[in-house]
Amino acid sequence: MTNDSNNDHFNAVLTARLSRRKLLGGGAATAATAVLGALGLAGCGSNDAPAPVVTPTPTPVPPAPAEKLLAFTAVSKSLLDKVTVPAGYTASVLIALGDPLTAATTAFKNDGTDADFETRSGDHHDGMEFYGLSATGTPSTTSSDRGLLAINHEATTDQTRSSFFLHPTGGVTTLPRPAAEVDKEVAIHGLAVVEVKKTGAAWSYVKESGFNRRVTPLSELDIGGPVRGNALLVTKYSPTGTKTRGTLNNCGTGKSPWGSFLSGEENWSGYFVRGAADDAARANDKSVASLRRYGRNQGATSRHGWETGGLEDKYARWDISRKGASTDGSDDYRNEMNAMGYIVEMDPYDKTKLAKKRTALGRYAHESAAFSVPAAGQPLAVYMGDDSRNEYIYKFVSSALWAAADANPADRIATGDKYLDAGKLYVAKMASDGKGQWIELAMSNAAIAAYAGYKFADLADILVNARLAADAVGATKMDRPEWCSVNPANGEIYYTLTNNSNRAVEPSASQIAPDSANPRAYSDLKGTTIQAGNPNGHILRIKEGTGASAATDFSWDVYLFGAETSANGGLVNLSNLTDDQDFSSPDGLAFSPYTGICWIQTDDGAYTDVTNCMMLAAVPGTVGDGAKQTLNYPKSAGGTLAVDTFVGKKPTADTLKRFLVGPAGSEITGISETPDGKTMFVNIQHPGETTPQAILADPTKYTSQWPSNAGYGAGKRPRSATIVITKNDGGRIGT
Ligand code: FEO
Ligand code: CA
Ligand code: CA
Ligand code: CA
Repeated sequence: MTNDSNNDHFNAVLTARLSRRKLLGGGAATAATAVLGALGLAGCGSNDAPAPVVTPTPTPVPPAPAEKLLAFTAVSKSLLDKVTVPAGYTASVLIALGDPLTAATTAFKNDGTDADFETRSGDHHDGMEFYGLSATGTPSTTSSDRGLLAINHEATTDQTRSSFFLHPTGGVTTLPRPAAEVDKEVAIHGLAVVEVKKTGAAWSYVKESGFNRRVTPLSELDIGGPVRGNALLVTKYSPTGTKTRGTLNNCGTGKSPWGSFLSGEENWSGYFVRGAADDAARANDKSVASLRRYGRNQGATSRHGWETGGLEDKYARWDISRKGASTDGSDDYRNEMNAMGYIVEMDPYDKTKLAKKRTALGRYAHESAAFSVPAAGQPLAVYMGDDSRNEYIYKFVSSALWAAADANPADRIATGDKYLDAGKLYVAKMASDGKGQWIELAMSNAAIAAYAGYKFADLADILVNARLAADAVGATKMDRPEWCSVNPANGEIYYTLTNNSNRAVEPSASQIAPDSANPRAYSDLKGTTIQAGNPNGHILRIKEGTGASAATDFSWDVYLFGAETSANGGLVNLSNLTDDQDFSSPDGLAFSPYTGICWIQTDDGAYTDVTNCMMLAAVPGTVGDGAKQTLNYPKSAGGTLAVDTFVGKKPTADTLKRFLVGPAGSEITGISETPDGKTMFVNIQHPGETTPQAILADPTKYTSQWPSNAGYGAGKRPRSATIVITKNDGGRIGT
């Protein structure tokens, strides 16, 4: 983002001076301190917020490991085009873009001529969960040598419309797009189930497994929850509003306590086109406000131009303009986008069951879905975030109370109906004293019923337009909530807030000022480029108040701040990260249910002049284990903006350590382990993403040739892939 206002320029320059690298190096630190006066002298004191009472959970915590956690030697930052793991560990490629998933599918040639992606691995592997299989092929929660990986295939590498690595000479970048190219690009999106097995010490995927499955943006999906059958979902494809076609831009994941797979639909909005005169075509009804809030102003163009592939419905559905004469939308796709943006539930063990959209959890740019620690007789909470700049943190609380007998049900989707179709959706509002409130999004809330920005009809309308309802109640705008995960040891919830270029000390109209839960606005230098806002991100954590999963109050602090180790410690490197720990743009985050380690993955563009994206292992403490700190930002007209925040206990070499660095241009995302904790699966997404489309013909110019340079597969075109990590001594991962 570029902002030309004088104030922001001043901010950018001054905070760049505050931030990092040369100015504060060596003897300059003293001078900087003198120049900046009190700016670096953050007030410290104890967090005086009393710890709220949390209902003890009867669920057993993971047994204390016999081995020392984080005993490995930290991996150094790296720009190498390879996966680097600590000494004593082995990482190898398990399955990559295009690999065949049926016995009849041919080997992937990786030269742009492959097709039939409905029977191949999709692209841009993202969130992922492991589901054990017994020797006889039945579901098992203990098997560690055979299982199913359910994998999100989020998107595809493109510079200008075309997914250029999928086509022989890069594809057509102008409109209309050829049907054959569109068909390939659609099919590499969605979900996959892939059987994996261990033979001796080696893992492989099972090409001919009957469990293997793809769900694409063209698969039929079911709709569950309050929005099922609602007028907002009526389309030509589903005049009753009870089903929809496909799932899209699947990012974070979740694993339900009953063994199903949850997938978050994230940046789906950008795939749809909307006509330049569509506001008037809709008679400026309230759908216009909804479409604008979800990023589709009239005249919006689509990411790939799939709507131009032909006249068939499978292409036409990407155009959400009102075209038909009907009043209900049953003759066009004006409502098509209302069926995207949900948490999707899939039974990984049963491909005969349709995946189902769980509308009670709200519609937004979903990431992961993290369950509270299940407690018999208590409701289940599902924690979620909306990943866009200045969007919100949400929680769903089930009406049904958890019954332990549901942990291994005969019908997982029916069990999902029980827990995920009825309940309350809340949004988070953070206070500057380290407390917060969960605010229910319901018609009973006067702020929603009387909201001037949108007239809600009912609960279904609130869920489809959750962002508008959250606006109405004054929820706290966050620095792009990505994954969340629940610490199994104490039930606390960790949220990655990846970065936010729209924070500024003196904000323009499109920006907001830092607040306690999103307290940083500074500038980081990438080479000579100023990156303003909160470019390195942070990790917030929440401790529920009275009522545990059903609590409406909580306390919070910031567990970790991403930063370069050389950045200013008073305003930027607030967690005192060392060379073995520094990171930027946390995204994937998951606690191991087996070792209790908190794994942090990055999707970064700010620190990539120094290091590729990475994964770190952490052993965090608890909310409130650090201290209150006041950040004093200089203002252009003099004086300061003081922001109080709560900084978690600073990590040590024993509690935070870099474990993995990925290939060039890749994001590290998705993580799952076998129940013995000895095998870890991780996804490498979009290596070589920065390769310009124009140089496709010259592999030597690709910004990555991974995984072919690791000896995997044909061709030199880079491929997203799942890797498998084991410890050479047979021990658990992260010890
Ligand atoms: Fe797909 Fe927000 O990362
Ligand atoms: Ca993500
Ligand atoms: Ca991201
Ligand atoms: Ca940087």
